[in-house]
Amino acid sequence: MSTPFVAILMGSDSDLPIMQATCDVLKKLDIAYEVRITSAHRTPEDAKKYVVDADKRGCLVFVAGAGMAAHLAGAVAANTVKPVIGVPIDAGSMGGIDALLSTAQMPGGIPVATVAIGKAGAKNAGYLAAQIIGVTDPDIRNNLIQERAENAQAIRDKNDNINI
Ligand code: RP5
Repeated sequence: MSTPFVAILMGSDSDLPIMQATCDVLKKLDIAYEVRITSAHRTPEDAKKYVVDADKRGCLVFVAGAGMAAHLAGAVAANTVKPVIGVPIDAGSMGGIDALLSTAQMPGGIPVATVAIGKAGAKNAGYLAAQIIGVTDPDIRNNLIQERAENAQAIRDKNDNINI
């Protein structure tokens, strides 16, 4: 089995500017990841094949970002019992609410942990994946604790530098 990793899937290359935030968080926390563009609607067989293969190769958590009638995270969850995090993306005329509901409203038994619409959600998908891994990996847990401390300090610095 290869190094444990997070698999980041997205329905289209148009999702990349948002899903980059997940990659950035995982990179910062020193977690290996793979990125694939594959769609629940346009390439359903490819998506399933990748999930089954990634699962066997040591994927710990799947992150799936998609917009509009966003079924990618659900389709991933249908093919693995690893944790799946869904990122709803604002890609249509409804501000991402369409993707939020499509991602979150899963039937009982096939969960998708759904984060916020857009960039904040993509970031939190990275942190949530790290926190899941951190339950059993003390190095990742320590990276998260250190990151939280840095973020807190950054806010204190902003407070100290208010100049109005
Ligand atoms: C979804 O449709 C994708 O995840 C994307 O957010 C949206 C639009 O895709 P493109 O038409 O930009 O390829 O499946």
